[in-house]
Amino acid sequence: MHRTNRPATLVRMKFAARTTDLIDSPIGAAFAMLDHRVNDRPLLDLSQAAPGYAPAPVVTDRIAEAARQPATSRYTPAAGLPELREAFAEDLRRSYAASDIAAVDVTITAGCNQAFCAVVNALAEPGDSVILATPFYFNHDMWLQAEGIGIRHLSSTDDLLPDLDHAATLIDDTTRAIVLVSPGNPTGVTIPPDLIADFAELAAEHRIALVLDETYRTFRPTEAPAHAVFDNPSWRDTLISLHSFSKDLAIPGYRIGAIVSGADLQREALKILDCVAISAPRIGQEAVITGLHHAGGWRREQAQRIARLQEHFVTTMAGCPGGFELVTSGAYFGWIRAGGGRSTDETVRRLIVEFDTLVIPGTAFTSTDQGMLRFSFANLAPAEIDELGVRLATY
Ligand SMILES: Cc1ncc(COP(=O)(O)O)c(C=O)c1O
Repeated sequence: MHRTNRPATLVRMKFAARTTDLIDSPIGAAFAMLDHRVNDRPLLDLSQAAPGYAPAPVVTDRIAEAARQPATSRYTPAAGLPELREAFAEDLRRSYAASDIAAVDVTITAGCNQAFCAVVNALAEPGDSVILATPFYFNHDMWLQAEGIGIRHLSSTDDLLPDLDHAATLIDDTTRAIVLVSPGNPTGVTIPPDLIADFAELAAEHRIALVLDETYRTFRPTEAPAHAVFDNPSWRDTLISLHSFSKDLAIPGYRIGAIVSGADLQREALKILDCVAISAPRIGQEAVITGLHHAGGWRREQAQRIARLQEHFVTTMAGCPGGFELVTSGAYFGWIRAGGGRSTDETVRRLIVEFDTLVIPGTAFTSTDQGMLRFSFANLAPAEIDELGVRLATY
């Protein structure tokens, strides 16, 4: 065996600046502060946007049954189980009232985050740039940074919609894509179909991709189509629509998402997906097939329940308890302006340590400190939202 007498400090491995320069996961950083709590009362966890409720019984029954079948332990075709691709294409045709979405347009991924990473890798490389609407979903910003891709932050209008005129000024020869999230994380704001159409037109004009993360599509205040871009016969040339079943079917741990795109993007993304996961988890794919076929009513009920929670949350925040002002809300989120003159990190720390209320600092979603916080109200029960109001009022 080869032995060395060199001190341990000299033989430490080195790390790539592309990851050492990144922030740690904001969710992990928030959880790390829990150890410093000074009270002994239940935590109000408004950090991660993860469903706290169980999946539909029909889905869990199917998971149990599928686990016993030998085929479930195998890989699936790289783009996903054909039955799932067909079922999702049908779901999309119905919810977008669009006839031109086929199973071949659907690529199943291990969650929407993986979908985004593969899409970015297929579109851009160091030296290229991507336009990212702000406030952004932090994992999008982190991945673009990790890949050495130039990030052009797109400002929002006063109502926190992406600013189309500003986007037009950010496009140059290096630009490969515009990234929008609707409903937005962290703002909860749904981008109106007309504005999405304008962005699709802008992208098509410049032959760049419009990457639309539609993770929270079911949690919009309406069941009308989210946009009409799929009606454009050439949508496959520049639209890339990303989806997640994590919230929709309350199965974040089963890791299933999807890319909806033309064949060219799909071919490139599959090269990346093959390297990182070979296929999305088969048990999750089985769960989603059942969810799409048999849990439609359950999905709608959950969305309605969360909409009622939102109303409750909005009412609770109406008087700006403790100086916390609700600026926008929707899907799972409230985007809150903190008063009090403290830095955002100090506010978050105090909320956790003294008020047992776990939230994410807005600095995870913006490149400067704007005194904002993200509250994932959908994690709470109605009585916990009342308790949140009481705790904030005493802040
Ligand atoms: C906007 C957005 N995209 C993607 C994801 C990740 O979804 P998935 O669990 O499917 O990877 C999230 C999760 O919070 C999200 O908020």
